[in-house]
Amino acid sequence: MSDTSVGIDAIEMHTGKLRLDLAETFAPKMGDDPAKYTKGLGLYASSFPDTYEDIVTMGANAAHRLMARKGLEPEDIGRIDVATESAFDQSKPVSTYIAGCLEQVFDGDFHHANKGERKFACVAGTQSIDDAYNWIRAGRNRGRAALVVATDTALYARDDPGEATQGAGAVAMLIDEDPDLVEISNAQGYGSADETDFLKPNQQFPSVDGKRSVQVYLARMREAVIDYESVAGKIQPDEFALLPFHTPFPGMVRKAAALAYRHMIRDTEVEESLADEIGRQPRPEAFDDDGAYLDAMGEYTDRLVETDAYADWYERVVDPTLDISRHVGNWYTGSVHVARMSGLRRALDEGIDLTGRQLGVASYGSGAQAEVHAETVQPGWEEEIAQLNVDEQLEARYDISFAEYELVHDVHNYDEETDVEEFTTPSEEFVFEGWGRMGERKYSYVD
Ligand code: COA
Repeated sequence: MSDTSVGIDAIEMHTGKLRLDLAETFAPKMGDDPAKYTKGLGLYASSFPDTYEDIVTMGANAAHRLMARKGLEPEDIGRIDVATESAFDQSKPVSTYIAGCLEQVFDGDFHHANKGERKFACVAGTQSIDDAYNWIRAGRNRGRAALVVATDTALYARDDPGEATQGAGAVAMLIDEDPDLVEISNAQGYGSADETDFLKPNQQFPSVDGKRSVQVYLARMREAVIDYESVAGKIQPDEFALLPFHTPFPGMVRKAAALAYRHMIRDTEVEESLADEIGRQPRPEAFDDDGAYLDAMGEYTDRLVETDAYADWYERVVDPTLDISRHVGNWYTGSVHVARMSGLRRALDEGIDLTGRQLGVASYGSGAQAEVHAETVQPGWEEEIAQLNVDEQLEARYDISFAEYELVHDVHNYDEETDVEEFTTPSEEFVFEGWGRMGERKYSYVD
């Protein structure tokens, strides 16, 4: 095992090119108060794929931009791992399609790159980074880097409560030695259990117990934090400059952040300094039954989130990670990586020097598993983040009406036969152009 520094060298995203305004367009048709979306869920808009986009085109477009920007050729890549929960084939991995797309625009090929597909709901993107990290640390990479692509079309059945949180997009990450963006720590914590909160038993749209999935997220995350602390020591309140969480919708992160802060300040000077204002945290030994203890904890948490200390911490450490998510919705496997990117972008905009600071990355996938690890921001981070074109991509999206949304949902529903014109004109990107004779999907690059 080598002790080389390994982490994320570069990152890029590609958003679905359509935008649905949740407050203005979706809420009125659903008979909802727009504030349910903007304030409750914390979402303003969802991204959707145009008719010629899917998980392959979005993933390949993000990877293409990343490779071109870093001056990479296929021979520099030793593995391509795709994380998705929107795959359309039970055997052939999406990574082979993405490699095929990239071979259309780069010289050479990926014949000597190991390709795979990772599935564990939204945590699979982080697991793919892990696989790449282990491969490099084991010294099996022969000087090559790994390309990790997290790509999803997070669509729910019409009228499912999850419809409010939909989204579509991809994140491509280059995992390499001596990374420019973040170094990944060896210490990890897991919280994992057999849960039935969200699943797709051979069906396109998920069966979801939404309220339960929120509870499972929090329970498994708590376990992962405790497991992480068992190897890395107790997390201190100001240890992490940013806490990127898996973000199915920002309201979920608001709940998780309150529990994280409460946990971090326990038995610290911060808890002590807040004692006059809101009391100390209840301790289980002071209660006869669990219910009374949990009620007291809930009341303490309600008081805690109203304090200036909490508001200041949340504004610095959590809120910056939600900037992109608010405007794109849930990208499943990509969402925690969008949160990291978002937090780093805000720091760059505000001139905050993060070099050497720690990020606490908190991933989650239904079914269910949470994973927590630390990352150290590297000296090259500002140059990397400055090259992203996130705002350009978000602003270039075509705003769809509700009637158009209904068509777009049908276009991407495997059970519907549709003939819908594209809403945007593709340029310098990969497009889906139909099916081949064995039911394979076919792609081309449009100049
Ligand atoms: N003004 C302000 N807030 C409002 C509001 C209004 N007019 N109307 C509702 N809200 C708040 C609610 O209080 C709730 O916040 P809270 O949970 O902090 O109390 C939030 O908005 C959502 O409202 P709710 O009525 O719970 O929404 P819902 O029943 O439609 O379902 C989910 C919400 C998350 C269960 C649903 O979107 C879902 O199933 N999502 C998919 C699964 C998922 O993402 N799970 C997360 C873990 S991975």
